[in-house]
Amino acid sequence: MKVLWLLHGANLDMLGRRDPGLYGSETLTQLEQRVTRRAEQRGFEVRAHQTNFEGEFIELLHEIAVTGGDAVIVNPGAWTHYSYAIRDALELVRCPVAEVHLSAVGEREEWRRTSVIADLAAVRVAGRGVDGYLEAVDRLAELMGDEPAARPVDQPEKEDR
Ligand code: DQA
Repeated sequence: MKVLWLLHGANLDMLGRRDPGLYGSETLTQLEQRVTRRAEQRGFEVRAHQTNFEGEFIELLHEIAVTGGDAVIVNPGAWTHYSYAIRDALELVRCPVAEVHLSAVGEREEWRRTSVIADLAAVRVAGRGVDGYLEAVDRLAELMGDEPAARPVDQPEKEDR
């Protein structure tokens, strides 16, 4: 089975408590369950991790660089906007990367409009909540040669709701 890494950065363990207007009301566990279900439908085995420690996030990227992986979804949280160390680690990853944000980072404060990893991502989705992760899974699968999803990604199956 193809391996899909799903990496969440700082404060994403607090989903469900963070502003639901920006980040939705689902917890990280619920998010991971939905993403895993979609990923398995697309032939991926998921390895999900969340950390509030930048060095740990970097070491996870090193592990992917060294051991390989078929695709990666990252939401580094606020590190997205300034962590050149995470950017350098991501440069080591050879497989396709999707950068996902729950909120519409391009329409929020000025400082959130910068992503220091943007040019390394084959897929970028923001502002679509958890559905954005499902879209990223579909787009990564398609990039890897899978057939397009049988239905539009914005009409997820009932079980994904
Ligand atoms: C976020 C957006 C970031 O600006 C913020 O710091 C986060 C979450 C998102 O998913 O919308 O922690 O990455």
